[in-house]
Amino acid sequence: MEFKNLLIETVDSVATLTVNRPKSLNALNSEVLGELECALYELDQDAGVKAVVLTGAGERAFVAGADIKEMAGMNAYEGHVFARKGQQVVLFMERMKKPVIAAVNGYALGGGLELALACDFIYASTKARVGFPEVTLGIMPGFGGTQNLARLIGPNRANEMIFTGRMLDADKACAWGIVNEVFPPEELLAKTRETAHVIAQVAPLGVSSAKDAVANGLNMSKEDGFRYEAALFGVLFATGDQREGMGAFVEKRQAAFQGK
Ligand code: CAA
Repeated sequence: MEFKNLLIETVDSVATLTVNRPKSLNALNSEVLGELECALYELDQDAGVKAVVLTGAGERAFVAGADIKEMAGMNAYEGHVFARKGQQVVLFMERMKKPVIAAVNGYALGGGLELALACDFIYASTKARVGFPEVTLGIMPGFGGTQNLARLIGPNRANEMIFTGRMLDADKACAWGIVNEVFPPEELLAKTRETAHVIAQVAPLGVSSAKDAVANGLNMSKEDGFRYEAALFGVLFATGDQREGMGAFVEKRQAAFQGK
């Protein structure tokens, strides 16, 4: 499918999905959110894709937030529907079988940071600036940010970011655990794709089951999470990939995983 605001390029099982509205610093309007939902669904279904890198077009921004010009005229009901639309994208990313890595190349603000937080982890360039400026606009985060940021870095640091609207630079975002690693801008995409390629070569069902266990386990008690992990672990013993992976180890050869 063709998209007006997105670019998709797939090389060696790694798809790079780029939000492409650089004149608006890749801000998320309803159209972009709808396209993102379709594109992510297609990538998750595509057997030729094993990992996704999500980034923003241009040199300045990953995504500078939800589109303020579109939101400015919304009434309460429309605001609610818009938040649910953004949350649908974020929740879908968390439920996808395929891992998604954010390559944050500039501003990741408001809905842009919420999109990055929905990824399985985040790499950033030294130019990255992350924050929740919503309170400076008279609103609050609405695409899952209050929930996902507090779960990731704890309520105290999340509260400081959300209540002040201040941006963190890449090093501080890394020190606070929002970003896994920081790279020079010209290396970010290559480094992110390098990690995505490592993931694309291991067992896809192992990766998707682990993603499921981490994402869903966070919403369970530890004991229920352990039970859920053991159930998923057991199911993997019904797959060809488990036989191939362990067989290859015993036979001292490279495993060739089929994802089944
Ligand atoms: N929505 C719509 N347009 C945006 C935008 C956004 N979130 N962010 C930037 N743009 C547009 C600007 O309006 C400008 O367009 P025009 O040239 O047509 O005026 C263009 O992108 C370039 O931006 P600036 O001229 O402002 O660039 P700058 O370098 O001076 O500043 C910036 C960069 C600090 C990121 C600034 O653009 C900014 O503060 N943007 C808004 C960030 C923000 O508040 N994001 C949160 C939105 S609310 C939200 O996301 C709610 C939610 O949780 C769902």
